[in-house]
Amino acid sequence: MQPEHISFFNKLLGDRCSLTKSDLLKYSHDETEDISILPGVVLKPNCVLEISQILSYCNTHELPVTPSGARTGLSGGAIPCLNGVVLSMEKFNKILSIDENNHQVTTEPGVITQVLQDAVKEKGLFYPPDPASKGSCFIGGNVAENSGGPKAVKYGVTSEYVLNLEVVLPTGKIIWTGANVLKNATGYNLTQLIVGSEGTLGIITKIILKLIPHPTHDFLLLVPYFDATDACKSVAALFQHGITPSGLEFMERDAILLTQKFLGESPFPIKDNHAAHLLIEIDGFNAEQLMEECTQIMNVLESFDTDEILFAESQAQKDQLWKLRRSVGEAVKASSVYKEEDTVVPRYELPKLLEHVKRIGNKYEFKSICYGHAGDGNLHINILKGNLSEDQWKNELPKAIRELFQEVVKLGGTLSGEHGIGLVQKQYMDIPFDATSLELMRAIKVSFDPNGILNPGKIF
Ligand code: LAC
Ligand code: ZN
Repeated sequence: MQPEHISFFNKLLGDRCSLTKSDLLKYSHDETEDISILPGVVLKPNCVLEISQILSYCNTHELPVTPSGARTGLSGGAIPCLNGVVLSMEKFNKILSIDENNHQVTTEPGVITQVLQDAVKEKGLFYPPDPASKGSCFIGGNVAENSGGPKAVKYGVTSEYVLNLEVVLPTGKIIWTGANVLKNATGYNLTQLIVGSEGTLGIITKIILKLIPHPTHDFLLLVPYFDATDACKSVAALFQHGITPSGLEFMERDAILLTQKFLGESPFPIKDNHAAHLLIEIDGFNAEQLMEECTQIMNVLESFDTDEILFAESQAQKDQLWKLRRSVGEAVKASSVYKEEDTVVPRYELPKLLEHVKRIGNKYEFKSICYGHAGDGNLHINILKGNLSEDQWKNELPKAIRELFQEVVKLGGTLSGEHGIGLVQKQYMDIPFDATSLELMRAIKVSFDPNGILNPGKIF
């Protein structure tokens, strides 16, 4: 990066403009595979005006700017451009107000999602979206990626809670995208356009979120299956019988074994003939009603080939089961170089999706570990490098992934349910979208960011 740019940033931010080797390294990656690209400078602004000045300067000088949250993303959205600017949102770490009258919270983007959830829970309120990384990810990153998590099956993903956003545009202009209201038919929905735009349209500086009353009771069941496809089949059956779980998670045998090893904890025994498990949570305000719902679930599952169902008896046991589920991603990552796919299909098609994954895996000789939000038809497919040759990994695997995505789209699904496109999925965007749709998206990008400075190289 040219010295005059550095001296501008230095003058503006002082020691919040960092060139230290450790910072450049730290901000060179998120949690995506093993990718790392060194930025030229890391900026840590602490107010909206600083962001406006930074963007306006970068826009004039056509410097690439990559917004950076807690860097827990899985599609490379926060991976910077070589020698470019990283704009870290970590100083924007305050919950500004909790409006108990209207069930809303106003927050800065650098607040850890779980910190926000805990703060509103103290008032009896609930912010449901709970990505696996909720203990470390930022709410701003969740908005940028439209994150999901286990609760999405009942409560919806991040977008369903975002009412209004303060955003700094690449030109430095500051806007509000909407209003603090539950319904809004006033013009184009700029709020929802920013949600999931992966830091390519503007920098989010304030977020107004909708809250709901916090459920008072929940029950958790762990169901072992002798056949993984059968587990997937029972998912749609539960909904067809009128059950809406607050979590319906699928874990293949290998996902559990690997995670138990990773954590050094085995909260439940896995028999040799267990192929997969479903983790089923229901929540609400009336324990008796929920007990009835548990019985209903058991009744539905009777027509499937399950082993003995574990009913979590204490909060500690629930926590342990959720910890295991939430750690699968980390456990896989620790075990091998891997690629993560985030496919999503209409839920009834989940068994077919799993079959395609395994069939294509056999054809291209890769091993996959599948788990995810079965109730949403959202399957995380982790492909392990294992013993694959460099040629297989670099040249053959993209063909396999393309084949898989084509099947996903044929089933009515799409590439990503909650991790985003970022850097690593953009080469496949021609599968779900035709040229006209992609052209429209590019035109939107240009109208927000005429010089293409904001998170370039992502999505398209
Ligand atoms: C999960 C993350 C990887 O569901 O989305 O564990
Ligand atoms: Zn997930």
